[in-house]
Amino acid sequence: MHNDIREVLFTQEELASRVHEIGASITQDYADAAQQGIVLVSVLRGAAIFMADLARAIELPVEMDYMAISSYGNGAKSSGVVRILKDLTSDIQGRHVIIAEDILDSGLTLKFLMKNLASRNPASLEVATLLRKKTKAQADITCKYVGFECPDEFIVGYGLDYAERYRNLPYIGVLKPEIYR
Ligand code: IMP
Ligand code: MG
Repeated sequence: MHNDIREVLFTQEELASRVHEIGASITQDYADAAQQGIVLVSVLRGAAIFMADLARAIELPVEMDYMAISSYGNGAKSSGVVRILKDLTSDIQGRHVIIAEDILDSGLTLKFLMKNLASRNPASLEVATLLRKKTKAQADITCKYVGFECPDEFIVGYGLDYAERYRNLPYIGVLKPEIYR
């Protein structure tokens, strides 16, 4: 696995400390909102690891729920096609929803998701994305919490995959282009 990585972008320690910072911000920002309930929504499968760590960095009661959507095949390019494979279990009406995303690339996935969740009338709807790719046209999306800006390359690790591999790398790195070409 490690041999397929060209460059490490964020070490395990850097990820842990940034996730803790985001968790602390959420704890502050939502202190008064906790009564209505906070629902963390993770987009499977990439964001599951981020959300698991983020949830433990938030010192308020949170519910965790999961959605599965597909926008990428096994390739490295966004298809723009978004399909719900698994919907939420909880009713989010009147709740404070925070979507935990792994990476914001074109923004197509998130745009679809936000529209879909907003139509269910949550008390509030925000996004926490671990990574945001630079230099990309991102379909007018406001992310309240962004972990790191990252280069416009194909990256893997800490939940992010290429063809379902590398999700279990404890750090985030750039995949060698010869692997996906
Ligand atoms: P978007 O719709 O183009 O913003 O793509 C978002 C989704 O594509 C993310 O949630 C990831 O699952 C996946 N994705 C985008 N860029 C990468 C990458 O560099 N590595 C791995 N997955 C990626
Ligand atoms: Mg994703």
